[in-house]
Amino acid sequence: MPTPHIEAQKGEIADKILLPGDPLRAKFIAENFLENPVQFNQVRGMLGFTGTYKGHRVSVMGTGMGIPSISIYANELITEYGVKRLIRVGTAGSINEEVHIRDLVIGQAAATTSAIVRHDFPDFDFPQIADFDLLDKAYHIAKDLGITTHVGNILSSDLFYGGPDALKIGQLGVKAVEMEAAGLYYLGAKHHVQTLGIMTISDHLLTGEATTSEERQLTFTDMMKVGLETLIAE
Ligand code: HPA
Repeated sequence: MPTPHIEAQKGEIADKILLPGDPLRAKFIAENFLENPVQFNQVRGMLGFTGTYKGHRVSVMGTGMGIPSISIYANELITEYGVKRLIRVGTAGSINEEVHIRDLVIGQAAATTSAIVRHDFPDFDFPQIADFDLLDKAYHIAKDLGITTHVGNILSSDLFYGGPDALKIGQLGVKAVEMEAAGLYYLGAKHHVQTLGIMTISDHLLTGEATTSEERQLTFTDMMKVGLETLIAE
């Protein structure tokens, strides 16, 4: 049955999915990395495709920006379509001197300004963590590809403009700021499925450096490989 936001029939979405924020990135991945991609969604322009990667059936779909948006799609993918492994691939801003633009950051855990957990558990803070098995796989895949990779805490902020003092949080060793991973990790815990966030650094909040669109494309391609290889790893 289609959901309010996904028009696919049951069975049209694989149980492993790559989740870029940008739906046109989903299209790019489908067209450049998947064999025989079939589009399963275009509701609200949130394009989704299913195809095969190295013989494994996988899907890719945009999530939009921010925890409310990714939570809608991840919820429906998990509870209505039976997706069991969800990997976010996106960009993040570095808030750490040791993390440079173009580097890869794998979010071991995600601090957040979002109330996503507090809606369910008002009395305590729940640490939103990645699935360790996926984290371990992704780290070794990235290392083997020769990509500079950092693993650690990230911040999933509700605000791109303004918001918490990310640089102060960076002093606690938090590596980068983005806007979705904590929501995905919480849903992983809630529904007992595997979730992971892999980000390339597109800009640096300490140095002001930013990647060009050409560089973003290149680093994005590296990240896709890590994401897809992790998605199909046994
Ligand atoms: N803030 C939040 N999300 C981001 C940023 C940022 O600076 N850069 C890339 N994604």
